[in-house]
Parts: sequence; structure tokens; C-alpha cells
Amino acid sequence: MEVISKVEELKKYLKNKKVGFVPTMGALHEGHLSLIKRSVKENPFTVVSIFVNPTQFLEGEDLDKYPKKIEADLKICELGEVDAIFLPTINDIYSENELIIKAPTIKGYILEGASRPGHFDGVLQVVLKLFNIVKPSKAYFGKKDAQQLYLIKQMVKDLFLDIEIIPCNIIRDGDGLALSSRNIYLTPQERNRALSLSKSLKRAGKLISAGKRDAKEIKELCLEVLKNIEVEYFEIVDYDFNTLDTIEINNTIILVAAKVGTTRLIDNIWI
Ligand code: PAF
Repeated sequence: MEVISKVEELKKYLKNKKVGFVPTMGALHEGHLSLIKRSVKENPFTVVSIFVNPTQFLEGEDLDKYPKKIEADLKICELGEVDAIFLPTINDIYSENELIIKAPTIKGYILEGASRPGHFDGVLQVVLKLFNIVKPSKAYFGKKDAQQLYLIKQMVKDLFLDIEIIPCNIIRDGDGLALSSRNIYLTPQERNRALSLSKSLKRAGKLISAGKRDAKEIKELCLEVLKNIEVEYFEIVDYDFNTLDTIEINNTIILVAAKVGTTRLIDNIWI
């Protein structure tokens, strides 16, 4: 497995290779590993990038304390049979006074974008850079960051990028908690309370299975499960992130964001 930090070196190394790409911010877990495994299976060559992108963090967020576990990450990638790791520094990626990518004014500024204004500008900025460096045929993203996935797909379409975006299922711990690099911030008590997120979504799934379709009613019933944590939003949208009044089977995402202690968590289910 090659570990490369310089953009030009990586470009040279990847020339004429058909690449599957898994962009990450490190602190890898089973969720990332599932993306890696899928890429390794579907592509002759897999590249994983590890870069904690400063432009997607807002003032006062956890950029400085974002978990870093580079040795463990490299081991996981090696075991996952990754071919190359891209491990750049901030200066390898960003320069002064550069051109800015803006997320779309509505879909980039609702839900996660409303809670974290400008977050998706930074995500799209770095993902476009990474795509231009790695030039993958396929890129793998988790459905847990559903709005990120939607906006990256839109960027690929709007900018005519020749990349197939592959959505990958959410991976959960045995108790239902969606895997996230930020779960390590949770104390055992907080981790217990954090289960409300997946429990609320499970309740939504059960209500829909039982025939309920009214989004407002489902939302009210699910919010009862979330009483012990600080909910930022619980919303029901279609696959294009338009608000839904009525559940549409095969075209509904139910999303929740909440703070447990000081840790902000997100989760969702696709109906
Ligand atoms: O989902 C993430 O880990 C990040 O937002 C990404 C896509 C690697 C961009 O920094």
C-alpha cells in the first residue's frame, strides 16, 4: 500500500488507473471499512484519502479536537486491501485567496446547512479538489451523511463530472447507534441517551410499516422518543430533499440531528 501526500506525485502514480475512491477524514470505523470493501470489490484500484478538511468546520466546532488515529487508519486500510492512501497536509490542498465553491442556496442551507451554515461549501470545495486529483471512476459515500451525498451527486451532475457516486448503507453498532467518528466523544451515559436517535427512526419505520403516511403525525410520535436529548431537527423529505407532507414509499428520507451533551449526532432512514 502506497502512502502519498503530494498532489503531483499521486496524480502521476494514478495515471491510466481505473480508480475507486473513498474520501474520509480519518478516525476510520466499520462504516468506512464497508465503503472500502465495496470499492476494492468493484474497482481494480482503490484510493482512500485521509484529510480533516478545515473549510467544512464552522467557528467553534470540533476541528481542533477531531479524532486523529493515523496509525490505526493505515492498518485498517492495509487490512482492507487499499492500494493507495492520499494523506495531504492543509498546504497541499489549500492556497491563499482561492476560488470558492458555493453549495446551492436552498438545498445547501436547509437541515444540516441551516444548523451549520457554510459547512457544505467546504465539503463541496474539498470533494471537488479531491476528485480532480484522484480522477476516480467511482466514489463511495455513506448514506448517513444523506444531504452531503445528495449535494455531491448534484455537483457531479451540474459540473458534468465523469464520476459515478455510489451510496453505501449506514453501519450500526449492535444496539442501533449509527457509527460515527464522533461517537468516541460520548460518555457511557451519553452513549445510552444517544440511542434515542436510532430508536426514533425505528419508531418511524414501524409506524410506516403499520400504514401511517401522515408526516406531521409520524414526526410528533417520533419526537416523544427524543425527549431526553436536544433535538436540532427531525424532518421528513423526499430523495431530492423537498419537505414531504405524506410518506412516499421508495422516496422518503427521515433525518434527525441532536446534541447529546456537547456531541452533535445525525442519523436517518431511507424509506
Ligand atoms: O464525509 C466526510 O468524511 C467528509 O465530509 C468528506 C466527504 C471526506 C469531505 O471532507
